[in-house]
Amino acid sequence: MWHEVARLDDVAPGGVKYVRVGEEEIALCNYDGDIYAVSRRCGHQNAPLDQGALEGWIITCPLHDAQFDIRTGKNLSWPIDHDYGDEPIPEPIQRFFKLEKRLQWKTRVHDLETWPVRVTDGVIEVEVAD
Ligand code: FES
Repeated sequence: MWHEVARLDDVAPGGVKYVRVGEEEIALCNYDGDIYAVSRRCGHQNAPLDQGALEGWIITCPLHDAQFDIRTGKNLSWPIDHDYGDEPIPEPIQRFFKLEKRLQWKTRVHDLETWPVRVTDGVIEVEVAD
């Protein structure tokens, strides 16, 4: 079933907008004027992808930088380590980072769910099963 979720003007080129249809959290992504609908929740640890960065057809998660193709939902890269530069990190935090890193590499990154999109008279609709 098709659901009206936003107006085309609501999603600027290169922008991402969070919408919800029932239980589905959807990120609408504008790539070059075309709208794609992917799961808002990252396939790694559920971070909200609408808070990440969209460059071309690649969306990057704001939490650990895993990347996904918005056209297919395919996972393109795994989480990466952040560079904290030369800033001293307290020992308990260093231990936490080590544990988190070990667990991250044992965590599977899932592809994103995608949904069909159509735009009619400036209105974006997403097809979500009831
Ligand atoms: S939650 Fe998205 S990369 Fe970890």
